[in-house]
Amino acid sequence: MRFTVLGAGAMGSAFATPLRAGGHDVRLWGTWLDGEILETLRAGGPHPGTGVRLAEGCALYDAEDLAAALDGAEAVLVAISSAGLTDVLDRALPLLPPAAVLALATKGFVPTDDGPVLIPDAVRARAPEARLAVVGGPCKANEVAAGRPTVAVVGAREAEGLAEAMSTPVYRVEACADEPGVEVCAALKNVYAIALGIADGLPTEAGGQPWHDLRAALFTRAVRELSEATARAGGDPATPYGPAGVGDLEVTGLSGRNKVFGVRVGGGERPSVALDAMAAQGRLVEGVPAARLARGWVADDLDRFPLLAALGELLDGDRSPGADADARDRIVQAALRGR
Ligand SMILES: NC(=O)c1ccc[n+]([C@@H]2O[C@H](COP(=O)([O-])OP(=O)(O)OC[C@H]3O[C@@H](n4cnc5c(N)ncnc54)[C@H](O)[C@@H]3O)[C@@H](O)[C@H]2O)c1
Repeated sequence: MRFTVLGAGAMGSAFATPLRAGGHDVRLWGTWLDGEILETLRAGGPHPGTGVRLAEGCALYDAEDLAAALDGAEAVLVAISSAGLTDVLDRALPLLPPAAVLALATKGFVPTDDGPVLIPDAVRARAPEARLAVVGGPCKANEVAAGRPTVAVVGAREAEGLAEAMSTPVYRVEACADEPGVEVCAALKNVYAIALGIADGLPTEAGGQPWHDLRAALFTRAVRELSEATARAGGDPATPYGPAGVGDLEVTGLSGRNKVFGVRVGGGERPSVALDAMAAQGRLVEGVPAARLARGWVADDLDRFPLLAALGELLDGDRSPGADADARDRIVQAALRGR
């Protein structure tokens, strides 16, 4: 198949590994922010985001060559950070071949005049004819790029063809007809990974014991809320119990920017201080704006989302559960809430 990947960041370049291994024609398009990355990749150097060289035979396209990159594409994978998605789609949608599948790896919510909406819903509103799919599941760009075993999920009403085409012996892509479920899990897992990070970062006090029971309770609470949110979006409440939910939450809670932010806040830093410090290192924490937008998305039913509500309050109040007993209690009470 002919694939075009939009975004030459970590995930965009990582997709090239399984796609080239599957024998596909792969074009990687870099945004106007990716010039240095493309230069490095053309020189044969490792991608700065993954530390891995680009798969052989992948064609590179500069920002101004978007039309050529999209010409004849059968599937377009979007690996643009949520902050840049609108600008990129403004340029790409008019050039999209009508039969192409548009598969979004970008996750989260966008604000609208009518409140936050899931990214795929916003894209659907702009391009109702587009054949939309979402890519989720437990996947880290550097491991996919390096060809390590990974399970991913394509959510779409008819996902089998794309899932099968993208799969290799080490990169197994499951087809999931529950597109809303995959969307919701992908959009919310960064938010809940912050909570897991908080449990990992809490001071261990005299005995040096980690807060593993609390972490497990938070994990369970997060999965229940993913299930509630999926049902709200019209999806199957069981989807979060598979790779799109528990799988992705596990890997996101082990490493990555959202978990690191949670660890810092759990360890006693104010959220604003931790965010500024990470931004200064060029590390944007997608889960923070997503937490506020997600809370807005469920605003009329917030009682069903106690952990989301508690995280929103911590961020609003700029409070750290590691330094403020009341803030810690807020998270603990959310974790201890039953069904
Ligand atoms: N890194 C992962 O393991 C991983 C896994 C699955 C999904 N994703 C998702 O893929 C998306 C990209 O993640 P990444 O890790 O590749 O990030 P990255 O920072 O390495 O790359 C971001 C890409 O978005 C573009 N971009 C960023 N801000 C922009 C702006 N303001 N205007 C235009 N373009 C902009 C960059 O040029 C680049 O192409 C994110 O939504 C992320 O959640 C990442």
